[in-house]
Amino acid sequence: MLYLEQSVFKIILLSKNKQIHDFLSEIIHSAKFENASINILHAYSVEECKTIVVNNSDTALLFIDSENTINLRSVNNELFIVTYIRDVLKNKSLQVILRNNFSGKYTPDKIIMKYEINQFIYNNLDSSMTLSSIFASLKAFENIEASEKGKKGLEQVIKSSSNIFEIHSLHKFAVGMLNQLSLIIKSGSNLPFLSTSCFVASKKGNHFYILLGRGRFSSHINENVFDVISTKTMKEFKTVVSAKKNKYSRDHFILYFNNNSDYQMLIYFEKLKKLPKSSVTIIDLFCKNMNIAFDNVCLNHELESTQKEIIFTLGEISEVRSHETGHHVKRVAEYSNLLALRYGLTQREAEIIKLASPMHDVGKLAIPDSILNKPASLTNEEFEVMKTHSKIGYDMLKSSNRKLMKSAAIIALEHHERFDGTGYPYGLSGNDIHIYGRITSIADVFDALGTKRVYKDAWSLNKILLHFRREKGRQFDPKLIEIFFENLDKILTIRRTFSD
Ligand SMILES: [Fe+2]
Ligand SMILES: [Fe+2]
Repeated sequence: MLYLEQSVFKIILLSKNKQIHDFLSEIIHSAKFENASINILHAYSVEECKTIVVNNSDTALLFIDSENTINLRSVNNELFIVTYIRDVLKNKSLQVILRNNFSGKYTPDKIIMKYEINQFIYNNLDSSMTLSSIFASLKAFENIEASEKGKKGLEQVIKSSSNIFEIHSLHKFAVGMLNQLSLIIKSGSNLPFLSTSCFVASKKGNHFYILLGRGRFSSHINENVFDVISTKTMKEFKTVVSAKKNKYSRDHFILYFNNNSDYQMLIYFEKLKKLPKSSVTIIDLFCKNMNIAFDNVCLNHELESTQKEIIFTLGEISEVRSHETGHHVKRVAEYSNLLALRYGLTQREAEIIKLASPMHDVGKLAIPDSILNKPASLTNEEFEVMKTHSKIGYDMLKSSNRKLMKSAAIIALEHHERFDGTGYPYGLSGNDIHIYGRITSIADVFDALGTKRVYKDAWSLNKILLHFRREKGRQFDPKLIEIFFENLDKILTIRRTFSD
């Protein structure tokens, strides 16, 4: 057995006789049941016993020593405390031993049936007999408790699993796993769960990196697992990974997950005071369920990564085609993400605009080379052709049902609209232009002006900023221009970080 189910078993002794209290104290004094000690709570009256029972719902055994002749028709006997426990407190796991001389007209079997008593002891108490009866009761209590915990744990697993199956991102999956495991551990133990530290790590290359941490690991995100755990634990991690099996130790455990491809994930919990055997079974079961969910999440992660790569590559192709500079789409993505966040869009939306904005000029793939790369100003006719790239880009992307593609389509269509309504293709104005379009417009123009193109030289930063101030409320959304200037230092950091 890995761990003790209980550290202390409580027994209530109900007897008016002081000698019986002394006798039981004596035989229990040094006795241990499965390494746990036994604690006797003494009650000399039914009323006193009732109070003790109510205040100690985790009591394993009630030992009733009754000298009275038991009359099942009378309400004035000690056995009514059993009725109270079973019917009022709804406690079915507490074991009851009755000692009586059974001298009345009712036989023990009738009494046992009526009061849901688990064992009886006839007449005189003998120490070894009494102790074996007590141990048998404690064992029965332990079994009932374990099956109750198992039932609760299973309910928890079913509830947790259905929650986690709805999660599609790896990070949210990790959060869900830690939450649900914490709940399972908590529900399987009566002990506080405050000082526990834990993390989820996923494999990149040959190492595991911390994806999410709590307690002492919360400040180690993205760090190599082997840099934050002891050498001894490191060896255990290696064993877990090679055996692909969970490992439970005295005060910590390591869980292992993998999918059919190469995705691997580890979960580590430490500083656990005590982990009951029933919890280990439940956690193993939970992990089996979660491996299927993990597979789904990995598949989704794979699909999303592929989608992101395709989008970015398309953006880059259009950039190369129009001989634009190396990191133009990368910078546009970063500026757009920053402006979106500062504007108050959600993390998710800011992420979408970051991924979709590199495709703003994808429609240029359909523009003839003679126009796209003309080293001089375009004629009116040529400019009209050039302007079609917004609508062409939109048409290329609009049919997808994916949020990312739909957003990219909007950006392609509206990134040349102007706030004052003089832009193209539709001459939309103000907030009729989608926020994605307004944001990408600023990001794109800021970057384009600062870099050399076939038809123009790079503008100086001062000249660009002056232009931006002038175009506030004309070409650009005034609120976004304010945000742009408030965050100019960060914009310039991005510019430096991804310079060509
Ligand atoms: Fe464009
Ligand atoms: Fe651009």
